[in-house]
Amino acid sequence: MSDNDQVEFIYKVLLLGDSSVGKTCFLKRFVDGTFQEVYMSTIGLDYRLKIMTLPDSTKVKLQIWDTAGQDRFRAITKNYYKGAHGIILIFDVTTPKSYENVKNWMSQIQESASEDVTVFLIGNKIDDEKNRKISHDEGKKAAAEYNLQFFETSAKANINVDEVFNTLVKEIHTKALQNEHNIEERRLEIGKQQKKKKCC
Ligand code: GTP
Repeated sequence: MSDNDQVEFIYKVLLLGDSSVGKTCFLKRFVDGTFQEVYMSTIGLDYRLKIMTLPDSTKVKLQIWDTAGQDRFRAITKNYYKGAHGIILIFDVTTPKSYENVKNWMSQIQESASEDVTVFLIGNKIDDEKNRKISHDEGKKAAAEYNLQFFETSAKANINVDEVFNTLVKEIHTKALQNEHNIEERRLEIGKQQKKKKCC
């Protein structure tokens, strides 16, 4: 049996953030284990698939959408927010503008994504210590404002990339099971009420 046959859940994750913060590199590091020095701007959207095994052996398939950070692609990207279970919002610790724009990205997420989407905030490029402009504390502060988990990463030096995906998927999965459980409870409750109505 292939890994694909054993997949029980499919989750959609979006990578968001300003142009050049490292979204494509972050995704490539996670899926291929490689890093690309040469910058090639993403046109529109692209996605990659990755099957992950959770600690309880459940197999989940992640569909990870790499979006274009440039403004001119914003309208295309927005359509993809709806079905997303998770969002990885990235800024670049060497580029203050990308940090300042977190609030704009958050407005867009709040406007376009579903209410129970899990969002993580990421400060990427921490390997570039000499050009760092945004401190760990500033990153944490922005995350706290929106009640998000915060990680600092380097796609280049392979710091924390796997941790981000592992933590995110665990959180998404827990939420999905909880939702399923709630739906089942509601169904049973409605069933009971209908029985009562019929009998008396
Ligand atoms: P758009 O497609 O325009 O939205 O950009 P993007 O966010 O996908 O950025 P991309 O991954 O293409 O990376 C932009 C540049 O940053 C490239 O030159 C990468 O080599 C570099 N880069 C990405 N991640 C890191 C990192 O962790 N550390 C350092 N030092 N450079 C990085």
